[in-house]
Amino acid sequence: MTQTSNVSHDVPTRRMSFDEVLKDMPKHFAADGDLILSHLAAALSGVFPDGEDFFVASVRNYRSQVTDPDLRRQVNGFIGQEAMHGRVHRSFNDRLDALGYHTKFSERRTKFFTKLQQRVMSEERQLAVTAALEHFTATLAELLLRDPKARAMFGHDAARQVFVWHALEEAEHKAVAFDVYRAIGGSEKIRVRAMRQTRLMFVSATVLQVAIAVLLDPASHRRGALRQSLWRFRRSPLWNRALWKQLKDYDRPNFHPDDYDTDQLVDQWREILFGTDGELNDKLTRSAA
Ligand SMILES: [Fe+2]
Ligand SMILES: [Fe+2]
Repeated sequence: MTQTSNVSHDVPTRRMSFDEVLKDMPKHFAADGDLILSHLAAALSGVFPDGEDFFVASVRNYRSQVTDPDLRRQVNGFIGQEAMHGRVHRSFNDRLDALGYHTKFSERRTKFFTKLQQRVMSEERQLAVTAALEHFTATLAELLLRDPKARAMFGHDAARQVFVWHALEEAEHKAVAFDVYRAIGGSEKIRVRAMRQTRLMFVSATVLQVAIAVLLDPASHRRGALRQSLWRFRRSPLWNRALWKQLKDYDRPNFHPDDYDTDQLVDQWREILFGTDGELNDKLTRSAA
């Protein structure tokens, strides 16, 4: 693997609205009305808006110290993209809340914990946590953009389009927080420790949250429904050793997000979503900056 941190990445801010397509999204929107996958996507969406506010704040803390003009431009793009993800996922969460999910509670809980982290953690550690979580989103984004089976899991167009658009932009800006951390001379020890703690916390909190949500959903009491959903999950692209290996690779000395080359994948998806006949051109409310 080669380190390509000096590659210039374009990070455009696209103003989007999915409100129309969200209107007819059913409660169990995942493919085949799957319980676990619907609740997993809802759990991720529930933490995104306030989690992404935390990412933006932790990068913004150091914006004035970034002297490289290319990285400064990417930082501005990162802030624009994450702010838009927050806005779209809040709308997505409003729809999920109306369908009976506890996404608004999840937003409030995430806000409480991120505010707490901002009070007790150094700014360097906040940025290290952000860079670690950006590797999570980049790894999941790469899976979604590469694997049609992963995209098919989302079922309804609204969920698939929101997550695929988000995935493209996570891939576009995947190295920004990491490069800022490196530019400010962030410690390797803190970087790796932040990832180890984040991995444990994020995975266990998500599993617990999804398990509770599924068990509280009356649909899971239908005979065989839960068993069938677990069977599907075990066969989904998420149940994959390579995915876990990619997440753990972050702990390696001299790791860089661009060690996973996604430039071609990004170009390909920019064309599919926003090219001449782009699938999401009608969701753009203002053209890319
Ligand atoms: Fe995001
Ligand atoms: Fe991100």
